[in-house]
Amino acid sequence: MHGEVTISGSKNAALPIMAATLLTDEPCVIRRVPDLSDTRFMVQILESLGASVKFEDGTLTVRAKKIRGYADYELVRKMRGSICIAGPLLGRLRKARISLPGGCIIGARPINLHLKGLAALGAKVEIEGGYVTATAKKLNGAVMFLGGRSGSTVLGTANVMMAATLAEGVTIIESAACEPEVVDLANFLNAMGANISGAGSPTITITGVEKLHGAEHEVIPDRIEVATFLIAAGATNGEVTLCGARADHLRAVIDKLSEAGVSVERSGANMIVRRKGKLKPVDITTLPYSGFPTDVQAQMMSLLALAPGISIITERIFESRFMHVSELARLGAEIEIEGPSAIVKGGRPLSGAPVMASDLRASAALVIAGLAAKGATQVNRIYHLDRGYEKMDAKLRKLGARIQRIEEK
Ligand code: EPU
Repeated sequence: MHGEVTISGSKNAALPIMAATLLTDEPCVIRRVPDLSDTRFMVQILESLGASVKFEDGTLTVRAKKIRGYADYELVRKMRGSICIAGPLLGRLRKARISLPGGCIIGARPINLHLKGLAALGAKVEIEGGYVTATAKKLNGAVMFLGGRSGSTVLGTANVMMAATLAEGVTIIESAACEPEVVDLANFLNAMGANISGAGSPTITITGVEKLHGAEHEVIPDRIEVATFLIAAGATNGEVTLCGARADHLRAVIDKLSEAGVSVERSGANMIVRRKGKLKPVDITTLPYSGFPTDVQAQMMSLLALAPGISIITERIFESRFMHVSELARLGAEIEIEGPSAIVKGGRPLSGAPVMASDLRASAALVIAGLAAKGATQVNRIYHLDRGYEKMDAKLRKLGARIQRIEEK
């Protein structure tokens, strides 16, 4: 693969920022929103709550003049990320009734920490009939610890941060998620008139304000899309320039790629990726930011399947995020699962085969493996891919990949 690719806005930053527009009755304008089925879905959720939304050429204008605080199962079950409307609804209306999202293929996806945080602000939280209802006459700032079994929670931190912007007094979240998407959300909330400091560190302080106003914001580039293209270029021995990518959000990935024999150089606002000779095995453990992201684990496994030697990949965030292993095996990869670790015996030649995508990042991993494999690979169920990658097939084609989208009969 050779050439230039422009990175889209971050899905996981855009979704909570879109939800945050519910906190004000004034119009908000959000730029660089990726056109994905997940963001389109969030548009539907906002509209179902009463907001008027316009989404054109990556710019989203939302006005949530009058909204209701109820989101039903049909809406929430399609996207676990929709739980991030809970905080804004509670903050603005003092009442949120949302269907419990349930688990998904990558793990149980509990929301106990979200609820712990909202309860700490003074909300009465009840679960009944598959719905969670949070109500409060008044929200009060509080000091809380939001760390869980696997560390911090990204959307839990976002939910509490959003509700706390309109609470009375000071809220301190300890063990807050440090992900760049949390910082992007805090920047948007501050532009709306909130008073948040410490975002990006494990301690976030929110001083409540009476009202938030409309604001404009540009979403950060998608670090997971960047990582996916870096890995795809490394796997195909290519040289690719990524435009509008932020290296400071990807230290752990760049470090591991360099160990594996893939170099990433910065050139102004761009990044250039190229192979440095033969691929080498590396060991990886997924961790909350600034550790190696779970959302890049599957793609990295495809790369390491090509590196002669043994790599050990340990998944510490989601308990069952190894569904891609058996599909990679269909292409000839030799990978064994031992508890939370996958042992990759890399270096065997991959050969194309029909495979099935199980979730968003697993689909990206299968596309990467398919590009590196000899012969044709057919990746089925690519609706998973369309949830989180903007025009991935077109972007890869422009870089010289032989990839086409086939409509299902
Ligand atoms: N957890 C709890 N209790 C909670 C919440 C989370 O125990 O109340 C656990 C989870 O089970 C998991 C860990 O904490 O073991 C981390 O989960 P987190 O809450 O951080 O995940 P999330 O906020 O639901 C976001 C991204 C995911 C990404 C994770 C981890 C969005 C919309 N989703 O989910 O993105 O994997 O953070 O970084 O922002 C993806 O884009 O493919 C994706 C799955």
